[in-house]
Order: sequence, then structure tokens, then C-alpha cells
Amino acid sequence: DWVMRDHIAEAVEAIRRQVGDEEVILGLSGGVDSSVAAALIHRAIGDQLTCVFVDHGLLRLDEGDMVMDMFAGRLHAKVVRVDASERFLGKLAGVSDPEAKRKIIGREFVEVFKAEAARIKETHSRHVAWLAQGTIYPDVIESGGAKSKKAVTIKSHHNVGGLPEQLGLKLLEPLRDLFKDEVRELGVALGLPAEMVYRHPFPGPGLGVRILGEVKKEYADLLRRADAIFIEELREARDASTGKSWYDLTSQAFTVFLPVKSVGVMGDGRTYDYVVALRAVQTSDFMTADWAELPYALLKRVSGRIINEVRGINRVTYDVSSKPPATIEWE
Ligand code: XMP
Repeated sequence: DWVMRDHIAEAVEAIRRQVGDEEVILGLSGGVDSSVAAALIHRAIGDQLTCVFVDHGLLRLDEGDMVMDMFAGRLHAKVVRVDASERFLGKLAGVSDPEAKRKIIGREFVEVFKAEAARIKETHSRHVAWLAQGTIYPDVIESGGAKSKKAVTIKSHHNVGGLPEQLGLKLLEPLRDLFKDEVRELGVALGLPAEMVYRHPFPGPGLGVRILGEVKKEYADLLRRADAIFIEELREARDASTGKSWYDLTSQAFTVFLPVKSVGVMGDGRTYDYVVALRAVQTSDFMTADWAELPYALLKRVSGRIINEVRGINRVTYDVSSKPPATIEWE
């Protein structure tokens, strides 16, 4: 629609004016906000933007390749992919406390990003002066309100405070005035696929908090495959009365890896393999949430496929806990 078109034209003008002929670095996570920010800034200044995509090895199945296909392949943006999975897994070895894992992942993320940004700053011929972030309006309120909000941190959500100063860069935040639904509309208008723009939220620490306790590559690989099956079936199953997919009817859905083994039977043999839990919730604000009443037929299909297709998992459970008192994530 032309209102959005106007908004894009205005935002593009504003970015060009602000940036001039200087260079911009942006941390691309594959999430909605950083993706839309990247697409918008790329529209404005093209190759003056370099995106840095830090792959911590705790992404979903094929997620890294999808991000690269989209931004490098389709938008022809400059994207540097940093494969840091071994570094992250190394730092996480032996650590099972959820908050400790979050801190490690957050800290390493900043370290890897900083090193890459510093490298780009040094090697670019033009002056790299800006760090772009996909900060949206609710983030602005949240951090502004944080001064008075002496609330207990139940889960430390890592955000990258102080990074621009440390890198000697100015902040570029073209989504600062927008609410989430406006960011999504903008993304679609910029040509990002609706499937990407309307994705469920995914936590910064990724699968690191969906593998209970110690994170291991073996667990992450099993979880990625199980979760991909769950999400694929949710996207395919439609609710008869609304015609919507169960993916769109839920606010967040994912699979959790439980590092316990249970007994099963396959053919003439006995198995002794891992358990996963499926989690699907409906919520408007993520502060409270109800577990989703997914159709039994859908749960049955998902469970059957995971157990048959993912060797190493022989039991699937469904989480029927609401928030509160349970949280949406298991860690
Ligand atoms: P909980 O589990 O607290 O989750 O009910 C509420 C929402 O926050 C997301 N979440 C996170 N997002 N870093 C993030 O970026 C985190 O450490 C983190 N922990 C939880 C969660 O996915 C849900 O959408």
C-alpha cells in the first residue's frame, strides 16, 4: 500500500542523510527486527552496509543457510557469516545452569561480533562509522523504563549495551519508532517473504536454552531435526473453521530436548533413547500464555514422524503447562 511506500521512501531518505558516504555495520541474527533493519538500510545505501551474521551453532535446521540465501543471495547485500559454533560449544562444555549458559552465549556473541566489526573497520577503504541495530519502539520503552523498574530478572535477556561506544561507532536505529506489527508490514513491503517476517520469536541464546542442562552438539543435532518436523507439520495443518495454519494460530511453538533416556521398542529390539517435549503456546504479550489445544491428529503425526525419522529419540511428550507458573521456555 502507498502509506507504507511513503514510509519507506521517507526512511530511506533519512538514512541516506544521516549516513552520508560512511559505512555501516549491522549484526544480522535472522530474527525479524534485524532482518527488516538490514533490508531497509540496504535499500537506502546498498553496499555501504555490511551485515555480520554470527552463527553460534545453536540455530534451527538450515537457518544459517536460509539467512545467507535471503540476504546475500536474493537481496545481494554484503553479508559476512562467522561460523563460531565450535567456539560457543567449547565455552558451554560442562555448564548446565540456565543463566550461566545465557551469560556465556551473550558474552561470546558480543566478543565474536566485536572482533569481526573491528576487522571490517580496519580493512575497509571507506570510513566505517555506524553500528546499525534493529531496535524497535517496545525495546526503547523497556530500556527507558528499566531505571524505575526494580524488577527481579527472571531470565537475563541479553542485549548489547555499550557496544557502539566500545567500537567507536555511532548508532543507527531506523526502526526505533515502530511497533512489531509495523516492522512486519515494512518487512513485507521491502520484499522479505511473509514466512520470515511472521516467524515466531526465537530467543537470542537459541537452542542453548532449549537443551536442558549441558549443551552438546549431539543433542543440538537431534533437537534441530525434531523441531523442524514439528514446525513443518504446524505449518501444514489447517484449522477447519478459520482456515489458518496451526503455526499461525500459535504464538510460539518449539521442541525442547530432555537429556534423559527412556525405554522403547522397535521391531524385535529394545531402544533406550532420548525424550523431547513439544511446546506450543498462545499469548498476546508473552507475559502470560496458555498452552495451545493442538488437534490430537496433529500431535500424533508429529510424534510418529519424530520417532520414526530421528534415530536417537524414542519418546515425545506434550507440555500442558501455562504461564504462569511455568515459563514459555523450559530454561
Ligand atoms: P519465558 O520463557 O520467560 O519467555 O516465558 C518469554 C519470551 O521471551 C523469550 N526469551 C528470550 N528471548 N533471550 C531472548 O532473546 C533470552 O534469553 C530469552 N529467554 C526467553 C521466549 O522465547 C519468549 O518469547
